Amino acid sequence: MQIARTIAEVRAWRREASSVGFVPTMGALHAGHLSLIHAARAANEHVAASIFVNPTQFGPNEDFLKYPRTFEADRARLEREGVALLFAPEPSEMYGHGFSTAIDVGPVAARLDGVSRPGHFTGVATVVAKLFGIVEPARAYFGQKDAAQVAVLRQMVRDLSFSVELVVCPIVREPDGLALSSRNRYLTPGERGQALVLSRARLAVEDLARHGMAEAEPLLEVARAVLAGEPGFRLDYLALVHPDTLEPVSALTFEKPTLLAVAGWVGPTRLIDNTLLTPR
Ligand code: PAJ
Repeated sequence: MQIARTIAEVRAWRREASSVGFVPTMGALHAGHLSLIHAARAANEHVAASIFVNPTQFGPNEDFLKYPRTFEADRARLEREGVALLFAPEPSEMYGHGFSTAIDVGPVAARLDGVSRPGHFTGVATVVAKLFGIVEPARAYFGQKDAAQVAVLRQMVRDLSFSVELVVCPIVREPDGLALSSRNRYLTPGERGQALVLSRARLAVEDLARHGMAEAEPLLEVARAVLAGEPGFRLDYLALVHPDTLEPVSALTFEKPTLLAVAGWVGPTRLIDNTLLTPR
C-alpha cells in the first residue's frame, strides 16, 4: 500500500490506476469503515482510502482536538484489506495559504445535524468535494450511519455534476444494537449502557411500523417515550423525514422509505442513529 501525504503524490498514483473506488474517513477505523472498504474492493480495480480529521467540520466547542487519532493501527488495517493508496494529508496540504472556498449545499444542510452543528455540512461538503477532485474516483463509499451526510453529498454531487457514483452501505452495529462509531470509545461503561436507548427507541418504532402504524406522530411518540426513560440521555433531535430532502413527513409512504433519525448526548458524547421505514 502506498501512503501519500501530498496531493501531487495522489495525482501521480491516479495517472497509473484505472477504475478507483474511494473511501473517505477520519480514521480511528472500526468494522463500519471496513465494510465500506470491502464494498469498494468488490466493485473496483483499485481502492483508495483517506484519513483526514477535517478541522472545518468541527464546531468551536466540539471534539476536534481530542478526536481519536490511531494512524499506525489504521494504516496496518488498510494494508491488510488490500487498499492500494492511503491519502493522509496534513491540514496545511488541504487548506493551504489563501484557501477560501466553502460549499453551501442549501436547505438540506441546515436540517437534522445541520441545526445543532451549524457549518458542519459546509465543512463536510467542501472537504469531500476537494477529496473527489484529488482522487477522481469512479465510485465513493459512504455509510448509512450518517444519513444526513449522505443526503447532503447526494445533493452536492447532483447539483455540481460530479462524475462519481455514491454508494451507500448499511449501518454496522455491535451485537447489542449500538451503531459502531469512532466516538463510542469516549463512553464509560455506564454511558455505554445508557447509549443503548438509541437502539431501543429505533426498535420500538420499527416494531410499531411493522404492526401497521404509518402515521408519523404516534411513531415519534413511542420513540420519545423510550428516550425519556433514560435519564442519562439528552435529546438533540428525533425526526421522521424524507431521506433526500430531510424534510419532515406526516406518514410513511410506499414510494420511498422514510428516515427515522435520532441524535443526542450521553454524558459529553454526541451519538446518532437512524433506520429506514416502509409501511406494512
Ligand atoms: P468518519 O466518521 O470517519 O466516517 C467515514 C465513513 O464511515 C462515513 O461514510 C460513515 O458514514 C461511515 N461509517 C461510520 N460508522 C459506520 C457504521 N457503523 N456503519 C457503516 N458505516 C459507517 O464521515 C466522516 O468520517 C467524515 O464526515 C468524512 C466523510 C470523511 C468527511 O470528512
